[in-house]
Amino acid sequence: MTGKTLNRGPFPATRMRRMRRQDFSRRLMRETILTPSDLIYPMFVLEGKGQRESIASMPGVERVSLDLLQQEAKHLSSLGVPAIAIFPVTEQDKKTLDAKEAYNPNGLAQRAIKAIKDAAPEMGVITDVALDPFTTHGQDGIIDAEGYVLNDRTVETLIKQAQSHAEAGADVVAPSDMMDGRIGAIRQQLEAAGHINVCILAYSAKYASSYYGPFRDAVGSASNLKGGNKFTYQMDPANRQEALHEVALDLQEGADMIMIKPGMPYLDIVREVKDQFGAPTFVYQVSGEYAMHMAAFQNGWLDQEAVTLESLNCIKRAGADGILTYFAKYAAERLNS
Ligand code: PBG
Repeated sequence: MTGKTLNRGPFPATRMRRMRRQDFSRRLMRETILTPSDLIYPMFVLEGKGQRESIASMPGVERVSLDLLQQEAKHLSSLGVPAIAIFPVTEQDKKTLDAKEAYNPNGLAQRAIKAIKDAAPEMGVITDVALDPFTTHGQDGIIDAEGYVLNDRTVETLIKQAQSHAEAGADVVAPSDMMDGRIGAIRQQLEAAGHINVCILAYSAKYASSYYGPFRDAVGSASNLKGGNKFTYQMDPANRQEALHEVALDLQEGADMIMIKPGMPYLDIVREVKDQFGAPTFVYQVSGEYAMHMAAFQNGWLDQEAVTLESLNCIKRAGADGILTYFAKYAAERLNS
C-alpha cells in the first residue's frame, strides 16, 4: 500500500501558490519595486505670474507659470522625484520658420531651467531639444518649399538650442526630434563649449505615434501642425529592428541615456534595447496613454491608484530604469503615503 503512493510521489510536485500565500513571502520574492526615484515629471510652462491653465484632454495636468513651477519643483523634490522635464508653451507671435526662439538665451525654456535650479537646486532638469514649439508649422525642424523637414539645417539649430539649455543650467538635454546625426553634433558642441558634464538623453526610438495628440494640444502645436504628420522623421510603429539600429547609432554618437517613446504599447522594444545595450534606458508614458487612463478613472471603470502603480511597475519590469510620466507626482505621492 505505501509502495504505491511512494512511486507516484507528491502531487503537484511544485506548489507555486505556497509562496503567494502570505504577504511576507510575496514581498520577499517581488522582483520589481517602483520608487519615486524611478520617475521623471513632465511640466508645461507658461509666461506670466500666478498662471495655471488646465488641458481638456489631460485632466489633472496643467500649464503653469514659472512661480508655480518653482513651488511644484520643491514639492516634487520633497517627494523624492529626481527630475523634471520641461516643455515650454511658446506664444504664437514668437513662432517663426527658422525657430530662432528655440535658442533665445532669455526664452521661456531657458528661464524655466533657472527658475527650477533657484527653487530646488538638487532637482535634475531635463530639456526637450526639438523645434516644434517654435515653428509656425509645428514640425520639429526647418522645412523646404515642399514642407520636407531638412535634416542638416535643422541639426544646426538644434545644436544652438542644446547649447543655450546647457548655458541656462540644464543637467540633461533630450533631443526628441529624430534628425540623423544630431546626438554626435550636439555632443561635439557641448564638449567644445566646456559643458562636458551635461548629459544627453536621446529619444532614439521615437515612433510616429497617434498617442501624442493631447501633448500637441498642451503645447499648442496641434493647430499649427493641422493635418500634417511626422512620418518622414519619426519611426514607423511597425518596426522593431530599426529601433535597435537607431539606439546603436545614438550610443555610438555619445548618448548617455536612451528613451523609448511611447511606453506601454512599445514595451517589447524596451526589453530588447535594455537586453542588447545595457545602457540607462527610459520610457515616455505619453499624453495619450495618460488620457486613456484618466478617462477610465473618471468614469469609475478602473481604480486610479492600483492601475497607475501597476502600469508604472510593468514599464519598469520591462526594462526601464526610469519613466517619464504625467503620473509622476501622483504616483510619488501614493508611494510616499
Ligand atoms: C515633440 C514632442 C512630442 C512629445 C514630446 N516632445 C510630440 C510630437 O512628437 O509631436 C509628445 C509627448 C506626449 O505625447 O506626451 N518634440
